[in-house]
Amino acid sequence: MLRLLLPLAGLAALLRAANIPQRSFGIDYDCNCFVKDGRPFRYISGSIHYSRIPRYYWKDRLLKMKMAGLDAIQTYVPWNYHEPQPGIYDFSGDRDLEYFLQLANETGLLVILRAGPYICAEWDMGGLPAWLLEKESIVLRSSDSDYLAAVGKWIGVLLPKMKPHLYQNGGPIIMVQVENEYGSYFACDYDYLRSLQKLFRQHLGDEVVLFTTDGASKLYLRCGALQGLYATVDFAPGGNVTAAFLAQRSSEPTGPLVNSEFYTGWLDHWGHRHSVVPTQTIAKTLNEILARGANVNLYMFIGGTNFAYWNGANMPYMPQPTSYDYDAPLSEAGDLTEKYFALREVIGMYNRLPEGLIPPTTPKFAYGKIFLQKVGTVVEVLDKLSPAGPVKSTYPLTFVQLKQYFGFVLYRTMLPKNCTEPTQLSSPLNGVHDRAYVSVDGVPQGVLERGESLMINITGKAGANLDILVENMGRVNFGRYNNDFKGLVSNLTLGQDILVEWEIYPLDIDGAVNHDINGQPEQLQRSVGNPSNYEGPTFYTGRLSVPGGIPDLPQDTYVKFPGWTKGQIWINGFNLGRYWPARGPQLTLFVPSNILVSSVPNNITVLELESSPCSTQMCEIEFVDRPDINATTQYASNAPPLFVRDTWLNHL
Ligand SMILES: *[C@@H]1O[C@H](CO)[C@@H](O)[C@H](O)[C@H]1NC(C)=O
Ligand SMILES: *[C@@H]1O[C@H](CO)[C@@H](O)[C@H](O)[C@H]1NC(C)=O
Ligand SMILES: *[C@@H]1O[C@H](CO)[C@@H](O)[C@H](O)[C@H]1NC(C)=O
Ligand SMILES: *[C@@H]1O[C@H](CO)[C@@H](O)[C@H](O)[C@H]1NC(C)=O
Ligand SMILES: *[C@@H]1O[C@H](CO)[C@@H](O)[C@H](O)[C@H]1NC(C)=O
Ligand SMILES: *[C@@H]1O[C@H](CO)[C@@H](O)[C@H](O)[C@H]1NC(C)=O
Ligand SMILES: *[C@@H]1O[C@H](CO)[C@@H](O)[C@H](O)[C@H]1NC(C)=O
Repeated sequence: MLRLLLPLAGLAALLRAANIPQRSFGIDYDCNCFVKDGRPFRYISGSIHYSRIPRYYWKDRLLKMKMAGLDAIQTYVPWNYHEPQPGIYDFSGDRDLEYFLQLANETGLLVILRAGPYICAEWDMGGLPAWLLEKESIVLRSSDSDYLAAVGKWIGVLLPKMKPHLYQNGGPIIMVQVENEYGSYFACDYDYLRSLQKLFRQHLGDEVVLFTTDGASKLYLRCGALQGLYATVDFAPGGNVTAAFLAQRSSEPTGPLVNSEFYTGWLDHWGHRHSVVPTQTIAKTLNEILARGANVNLYMFIGGTNFAYWNGANMPYMPQPTSYDYDAPLSEAGDLTEKYFALREVIGMYNRLPEGLIPPTTPKFAYGKIFLQKVGTVVEVLDKLSPAGPVKSTYPLTFVQLKQYFGFVLYRTMLPKNCTEPTQLSSPLNGVHDRAYVSVDGVPQGVLERGESLMINITGKAGANLDILVENMGRVNFGRYNNDFKGLVSNLTLGQDILVEWEIYPLDIDGAVNHDINGQPEQLQRSVGNPSNYEGPTFYTGRLSVPGGIPDLPQDTYVKFPGWTKGQIWINGFNLGRYWPARGPQLTLFVPSNILVSSVPNNITVLELESSPCSTQMCEIEFVDRPDINATTQYASNAPPLFVRDTWLNHL
């Protein structure tokens, strides 16, 4: 029946084409294509996440994408980046999404907007705000009424801002994605998808193309696709393109073929091998996709950086590093790579490459070694980090209960008994989320780690302060466990006894770094008595002066940590992210030039959580002119990266 009607529908489309509005974008189910301004249209797009690139570099990266021959960019909107607390919205500076859209438009790039609310993206909690967990039993990504109420408010703020940027309204946005890979999620709640569809239509109107993206298999499309939302798929290079698009055809018998995530590389995890996907494989499959007239988005075209605390994690708990380089055609720092030129050549077989110069790779500068001085341990500067003081509670509270969502919290209690002999401090329910740095009266004891190390021995006298600094390493972004509570989420035991009567200090380290931690090094000495070389969480500061007499400074650079173990670094108060050379594969952190100044020295703050080289070697970090995110030390697993996702899916 439907088949018989199709030729008529096609005729209608033709007739409509005669007086089609000047700016329109839609789907033509007869030509199996998109139609833009009345003409068949196929897009070649690339992913760029504005939240992973400083605003200062948006234009540069977009131009490089344009010069690769792309028609469009695709970006996610991370809800938690814009609504840090319920009802408090931030669209300023690096979060100025509308400015980003305007730049894309000016650059001549269309935009495919992936509006969430859930985005995955290897981003903290898949973009969902942690404060949703204030209702502990909330079922995320479902028609749970509290979840839907929060989504409704957020979407009611976001989409009205996006509406003027829709293509038919003069802007660059041609399509808007609803949710993300919902078919991979356990809930399979069609009412939820229907609620989102209604919400998106209500705010954006009936004209805009709304779509979904799922793994290229009927299995995922079953719960991910919904009538009225155009179903697209994602798949990696090297596979069977025909089979992948046949999966899309199981949901969309006609209409354009779309791969919304064609992987140019892959993500990394701390302690695993750096992911690399060979250019040749990508070029070959890209060519196959384009040759059949399909639409494609290269994920990522530029990965960028998980600055501050924004990285996500996978289960079993594996956090992602600071670099989101992704082995993409443009490197983390926006550098042109061989992959860029190879893929540009393939794109050039189908699209006319724009005339003009490709913006060159930005120069990098090796500022050299910078001496750091100890400021004090976290416990020593506690007053500055936690001005409001502790919250008292019989049992430990989570980050969400403290209304602190990121970073570090200090949990303190008194040793209830003499632990003259080594006594077991343990987390029997694996409830340290995610790492705990333990000391007794300032004497470092060791580290507990989620899924890795659930018990250490400690010693100390009855009545001594047992201090446990807990680090949130990033919330799970994929699968059923992304309601990821942080802090001590279950009781700790000492010997056989549950520890009670906690003083819990929320820590505003980022605030303190911007105020009074810097530039006041005190030479505080503490007794050492720890069994290992573990030293405990300690702040260090230093100053980087950009040399005079060299034109075009400051330039981008990378910072490396010879002899340091694990921690966090800020430059002029900008939180660059986590370093962890002891685990790798990432050894250097990208430092964009826009956070540096040449007029006065740049203030560096390092929070080293475990052990520094300062007592044995040189107390230095080093600014170098090339990245190293591919160290090959201490791998937990040698699993080939491309199979990792299948492993997660099997965990669902
Ligand atoms: C987008 O660019 C076009 C020109 O290509 C311009 O006419 C339009 O006003 C721009 N729209 C926005 C929202 O900036
Ligand atoms: C690719 O998949 C199609 C459809 O399932 C199948 O007919 C074809 O034989 C496959 N090609 C290869 C090389 O496996
Ligand atoms: C701990 O040991 C000290 C002696 O070192 C003793 O005076 C004290 O009573 C003991 N406290 C407890 C709670 O056992
Ligand atoms: C803790 O100490 C006990 C002896 O008191 C010892 O048997 C055990 O191996 C120690 N565990 C660790 C993790 O050091
Ligand atoms: C700690 O144990 C107590 C007593 O068994 C229990 O009531 C409480 O819920 C536990 N707290 C956590 C965070 O697990
Ligand atoms: C570094 O900190 C000092 C105060 O300790 C301040 O005077 C200076 O302006 C800061 N530098 C930058 C680049 O912010
Ligand atoms: C990563 O390191 C390995 C081993 O040293 C090397 O074979 C590979 O080419 C490197 N990959 C990249 C992208 O640098």
